[in-house]
Amino acid sequence: MDLAYMASLPQEEFISRRVRVFEQMQDNSAFILFSEIEHRRSNDCSFPFRQDSYFWYLTGFNEPNSIFILTKKQGQAHTSIFVRPSDPLLETWNGRRLGVDNAPAKLQIDSAFSIDEFAVELPKILANTTALYHTKDLHTWADALLTKSTVDLEKVLSWKEMLDEMRLFKSKNEVALMQQAGQISALAHIRAMQKMRPNRMEYEIEGELLHEFNRFGARAAAYNSIVAGGENACILHYTENDMPLKDGELVLIDAGCEFAMYAGDITRTFPVNGKFSPAQREIYEIVLKAQKRAIELLIPGNSIQQANDEVVRIKVEGLVKLGILKGDVDELIENEAHRQFYMHGLGHWLGMDVHDVGSYSKDQHNNNRNSKVRDRPLEIGMVLTVEPGLYISEKADVPEQYKGIGVRIEDNLLITEYGNKNLTSAVPKEVEDIEKLMANR
Ligand code: GLY
Ligand code: MN
Ligand code: MN
Repeated sequence: MDLAYMASLPQEEFISRRVRVFEQMQDNSAFILFSEIEHRRSNDCSFPFRQDSYFWYLTGFNEPNSIFILTKKQGQAHTSIFVRPSDPLLETWNGRRLGVDNAPAKLQIDSAFSIDEFAVELPKILANTTALYHTKDLHTWADALLTKSTVDLEKVLSWKEMLDEMRLFKSKNEVALMQQAGQISALAHIRAMQKMRPNRMEYEIEGELLHEFNRFGARAAAYNSIVAGGENACILHYTENDMPLKDGELVLIDAGCEFAMYAGDITRTFPVNGKFSPAQREIYEIVLKAQKRAIELLIPGNSIQQANDEVVRIKVEGLVKLGILKGDVDELIENEAHRQFYMHGLGHWLGMDVHDVGSYSKDQHNNNRNSKVRDRPLEIGMVLTVEPGLYISEKADVPEQYKGIGVRIEDNLLITEYGNKNLTSAVPKEVEDIEKLMANR
């Protein structure tokens, strides 16, 4: 497996994105982007800093309290950045800063200022512009600062749709990073299978995942890892991870690393003791069959909705065969009888954010991940997850042997001219392959 380190994108990539924004701006306008700020964890300790995805997307600059502005005046582009000024004392305590003097050359931006000069400089930058692109309600500090600078937030034009649409299609360089994120995440899942033993705690296995992420340069998980033993798997966003893993139960692990700002998002479900029981295997095989069919269908021109329709049919047929659902398959589907066992969507866009941005419907204005309308035809360069699941609560009215079984199988697909490429296929998911890997652990 080639894990040659490529920590970031080349500078030209950020510049070409800014050119594409410039081309979409109306003349005599300004476009403004705010960075993330530090967030307090407790007393004087902060959470690890994570840059705002949009800000990173156009600047490649990883410091808090920064503002980027692009203007288009009479067809001419000018870029400005406000950054934290150099401060030897603060830098001794809290870490290095790029500083005003170094910013233009390093970031290929025309002008740099101290963040403390924002109020004075903004009116000069906005002079002779008639429109401002800003997306409100993303950062409290951004809206407050603009309001203080007498910008009328009711009059700004949102850049959100423009940037979301750009971010939805991954460049060659982004695909390289996402492949790395997928591969590292896959190695972490393999390690989790190898380190699994009855009576280990869920959080110990979480530690094994993080260890593997770190080993390959992914310093953080892309989202809170889920290590869910037994019925905990039926809680979709279970993150307590504080219970013992029991002999005879399944464990569902949903975890992915963030590598160079790009996310992996893998789920595997496997037996804690290394061997599926007959009932566990029956449920597992339904989900696996559905996932494999979905992967066949998630190709250019098809939609997530189309694939999900087939996934639902495979699940309902399977559940009827096991006596978990009773009745006519078509009627059960019509009445959404599967919803009690499959209550989430088939997948979501993946990129700098685990639930990445971009419209899911043909109507491009609908970018709500929870919207049921997912009829947008897939196109080359999109990356999405495929993650069917079945969750049978202890309380469900089903044959005893199926109670408390939760299964999800999730991979990451890049849509290509040939169909798709599975970025996370390195983690086994066939029953025999999982059992073999665990037998040799
Ligand atoms: N890990 C969150 C998800 O699969 O959507
Ligand atoms: Mn996931
Ligand atoms: Mn997912």
